[in-house]
Amino acid sequence: MTSLTINILLCLYLLANHVSSLTLELVSQENVIRPELERQSEYRFMVKIGIGTTPSQKTTTPYKEYFLHVDTSSPLSWLQCEGCKKCFKQQPTKPFPKTNSKSFHPILPSDKLCLTKQTDGKYCTYKIRYDENSYTAGILAKETLFLGTNFDNLVFGCGMEQNRMVYANNAQNKIAGVLGLGWGPLSFVTQIESISDGKFSHCFPPFKLGRHEKHKTRLRFGADAVSSKQNRMTTKLHLIGSNPFYYVELEGISFNGQRLNKIKEDVFRAKYTEGGVIINSGEMFTQLAKPAYDVLETKVDYYFAKLMYKTKVGSYNRRCYMKANTTRHRVPTISFHFKGSSGARMVLKPEALFTDLYNDSICLGIYPNDKNNMTIIGAHQLINHWFTFDTKNSQLSFHQENCYKNG
Ligand SMILES: *[C@@H]1O[C@H](CO)[C@@H](O)[C@H](O)[C@H]1NC(C)=O
Ligand SMILES: *[C@@H]1O[C@H](CO)[C@@H](O)[C@H](O)[C@H]1NC(C)=O
Ligand SMILES: *[C@@H]1O[C@H](CO)[C@@H](O)[C@H](O)[C@H]1NC(C)=O
Repeated sequence: MTSLTINILLCLYLLANHVSSLTLELVSQENVIRPELERQSEYRFMVKIGIGTTPSQKTTTPYKEYFLHVDTSSPLSWLQCEGCKKCFKQQPTKPFPKTNSKSFHPILPSDKLCLTKQTDGKYCTYKIRYDENSYTAGILAKETLFLGTNFDNLVFGCGMEQNRMVYANNAQNKIAGVLGLGWGPLSFVTQIESISDGKFSHCFPPFKLGRHEKHKTRLRFGADAVSSKQNRMTTKLHLIGSNPFYYVELEGISFNGQRLNKIKEDVFRAKYTEGGVIINSGEMFTQLAKPAYDVLETKVDYYFAKLMYKTKVGSYNRRCYMKANTTRHRVPTISFHFKGSSGARMVLKPEALFTDLYNDSICLGIYPNDKNNMTIIGAHQLINHWFTFDTKNSQLSFHQENCYKNG
């Protein structure tokens, strides 16, 4: 998900300076938290968390379990709460029964944790806007979260009004909210800083039809998130005030090893609130600034035309290519070149570039952004790479990885 509007900038304004003054009383017995990554659909990842203290005779655990969408563009974790006025369907769970939880503490407007400075008259409130009409709004509260270990008094959004979340369109939607891994004082990573040291990693495995993988791939925090591989590449992470996004500097794109010189570097630069390049696990696919996309599409079209493929339009307005006969697909590679001392190149292999590779018609996981020329690198393009976000040192490091084996 992308919070494209300025709203969030306004509502979380003034927050950046408060980071160091926050003292959250986190209690934890262990230093390693590694929630398992699961997928709801091909490129939408989620983790299971426990929340609250609601002892029940049916279960031995005091918390309730929910799946949260792993979103590196969300500055706050939130969950649909009981009594919500507007909520999407989640199953098999029901919205979080906050009133039954002994550890649920709504934040008051006078509390220093009320960083949004918004109130409904009684409690501190929040609102996060994602794409256009999609938003979540509710009250800020402290709760105990369980992710392999307990975190007491974690600030989260108790969602009372949710509108147009894309995953809610899934008839079997299990997602009940978001794990906010974006930048900001209320981000999950920041709140557990005593353990995370501002670091987390993900390694998304590719989608394999009908295959149940026995290997687990995990979200990691702190020292555990730092890969020991020598072939790591590094680029600067730009953390901009109260903006929840992780910005990176993209310098260019290659097609089958050849740099596309027609793509000028400045199409990737941020101009005020438009343009720029972000890494966002909350989006399924990549949106490229329109001028860059057009150059790339021409190349890909030409490549497949020579192989007699036919073009057509797929979901998300993506370009699809249908082969002429039953021979195997011959798929090109695309690379992203990030700014970095020794050339931080990210090579997209077929599984990170096309969907439906098992079908006659394959579709590019990249589409143009002609709304604001912002470039957003989404989850499909992030698969089979290990990414470590280091918010304290403003660094993103990555390397190619078989995420099923070593995630
Ligand atoms: C199938 O199409 C490819 C080009 O897309 C061509 O190179 C190949 O010779 C064709 N194979 C057959 C058996 O027609
Ligand atoms: C495979 O391609 C055909 C023809 O384009 C399409 O109708 C079908 O939905 C595709 N199947 C899947 C699973 O994507
Ligand atoms: C996107 O960038 C191109 C080239 O800089 C520019 O001509 C176009 O107006 C931009 N589109 C939007 C919506 O800003």
